[in-house]
Formats: sequence, structure tokens, C-alpha cells
Amino acid sequence: MTTVLGIEGTAWNLSAAIVDEDDVIAEVTETYRPATGGIHPREAAQHHAMYASNVIERLLNEFRENGHHPKDIDAIAFSQGPGLGACLRTVATSARALAMSLDVPMVGVNHCIAHIEIGRWKTPATDPVVLYVSGGNSQVLAHRAGKYRIFGETLDIGIGNALDKFARGAGLSHPGGPKVEAYAKESTGYVKMPYVVKGMDFSFSGLSTAAKDALSKHSLEDVCYSFQENAFAMLVEVTERALAHTGKNEVLLAGGVGANMRLREMLDVMCDDRGARFYVPERKFMGDNGAMIAYTGLLMFKSGTTTPIDQSHVDPSFRPDTVDVTWITDKHEEVL
Ligand code: ATP
Ligand code: FE2
Repeated sequence: MTTVLGIEGTAWNLSAAIVDEDDVIAEVTETYRPATGGIHPREAAQHHAMYASNVIERLLNEFRENGHHPKDIDAIAFSQGPGLGACLRTVATSARALAMSLDVPMVGVNHCIAHIEIGRWKTPATDPVVLYVSGGNSQVLAHRAGKYRIFGETLDIGIGNALDKFARGAGLSHPGGPKVEAYAKESTGYVKMPYVVKGMDFSFSGLSTAAKDALSKHSLEDVCYSFQENAFAMLVEVTERALAHTGKNEVLLAGGVGANMRLREMLDVMCDDRGARFYVPERKFMGDNGAMIAYTGLLMFKSGTTTPIDQSHVDPSFRPDTVDVTWITDKHEEVL
């Protein structure tokens, strides 16, 4: 058995977990909740710095209580990016200290890839087209020729941030996504909104602003509904084209916005039409969590990839398609 401890802290969630090949053995999370408005990067980093050693201590206690010993840990994985620089640096510092004290290697993990790998672990998906939708990120990815390629992505802000920004302007509290979903359910009509797909990429900034402006003429319910219909249709369109292009027959949903039932319904209908299978992991594995970093670290470690200290600097704009996917053999590509 291989056992890896992983720390996630790219944004508002500080979360650490220990996993082996079979399951999550221990997990501890401390979430930063802004008093007002959205995430303040400096405050989030201070939160992570304040709680890091406490989270690790509680995690190791839980690990011991489950019958294990810290010397069973083979590697320390950490989220190396993308994310907020100050938050990433805090997490990397904890990871370095822990790796040194346990005398085990570090594994720097790409946060987007971790969302994919936990989905492949916790659902039957094997070689999916992935729609990764969170606050800071919106991407359509799939494995091809040794890398997770980005088939389409946002040209400006992530869908979650677009929803949160609009919601804040409408006087709703953070996070706005779930509130927009709730209001949308009460809508009685569609309001025309921008629909922006350029090639395989999409954009949400203009839609967010247009939705805010539409509030002067239309009800909050109708604006929330129309915002969701357009934004999600854009995402589903690109996901469908990625399926057609790659010839794959599975779709995996990842990221916090994946909690949205309307988005799931639209993806489900599209997959049904194409004869593709649609997979959604359990809610706790969709948003940012330590288990996804630990598990991806485990896959990387087992396939021979570790991160020497002098290469453990963080990368706030770390692109998933720059990572060599050493843990997947190219059997998927034989059909391409
Ligand atoms: P990342 O670092 O990957 O960008 P994140 O910090 O944004 O992640 P997540 O937990 O993946 O964290 O996603 C949070 C986002 O999900 C927020 O923007 C929130 O509004 C959105 N969200 C949560 N629930 C829903 C929902 N039901 N409908 C739409 N959006 C939702
Ligand atoms: Fe995330």
C-alpha cells in the first residue's frame, strides 16, 4: 500500500487528507469565510497560515486513531497551482516543513488535474471529457497523448466568479452560485442575455455585467434563470464538441459549480442524446478538498514523479496541459 498526505489551499479552503489506493483515511478542513464581500487573497492566506499546523496536527491524530502511524506516510503532496499566490505559498511552506520532518519526498500537484483524478477515482469514469467549473476556473479537458489537453476554457473569469460577482451586485451574500440557482427555480420567463462562445472558448464577464444591468427592468428570478440558461448552454455546447472531437463517450463534472442541478440536467440530456455516460462525484469531492491533492500525489508518486525542494516553488497560473501524465498508459490513445 502507498500512503500519501496531501494539502490543498489554492483559495478559500484549507484542507488536508491522507489517502491510500483504496480510500481516504483521514481528512481535516478549515474554510476561510470572508466577513463581507468575496475572497480577500491576503486574508485567505493569513487564515491558511494561522490554521496550517493545527489542521496537520488534527489530521495526524485522526490518522493515528484509525490505527496508522505517521511513518507509514510515503510522500507529501501539495497544490502547487493554479490559485492565489499568497495562499499557495503558505501551503507549500507547510508541505516543505512536513516533508523534511517525516523525511519523505514532496509531490507538487496541479489543482485542475486533482479535480479530474478524484472524479476518476470516485466514479466509474475512466477516460472522460471533463467539465471543470469552479470559482476561479472553467475548462473543458481530456487526456490525449500523455497530457490533459485543454479543449476549451474561459477567456476571462470563471463561471463561479461570474455568478458570485453578479449575486454580490444583486445584494446576495457570498457564495452567490447556490442563491442564483434557488432564485432561478422561481422564474416565470426568459430574458435575452449575451451568449459568447468563440471557437472552443467561452466568456462570462459580459454576461455577468448584462445580468446585473437587466435587474433594473426584470425580476431577480428571471435574470438568475436566464443567466444560468445562457452560461450553462455555453459550457454544454463546448463539452459536446469536445466529445465529438475526441470520440470519447464519458463526461465527468468537476468543481464547486457542479453542485448546480440545472447544469447537471443539461449535461445529462446532452450525454443521453449522444449515448455518452455522465458522471458526477459525491458533493464533498467536487469542490476543493485535500483528498484530491493526496490522491493525485499518490498517482504521481507511484509512477515515479516527485518534486525536489528546489522545484517546489508555486505557480499561480499553473496550466494542467504542461504536466506529464506519467500515471496513465497510452491505451486510451490506441483508438484515436
Ligand atoms: P477553484 O480554486 O478550483 O477555482 P473555488 O475556490 O472556486 O475553486 P469550489 O468549491 O470549487 O471552490 O467552487 C466554489 C464556487 O462554486 C463558487 O463560485 C460558488 O458560487 C459556486 N457554487 C457552489 N454551489 C453552486 C450552485 N449550486 N450553483 C452554482 N454555483 C455554485
Ligand atoms: Fe478547485
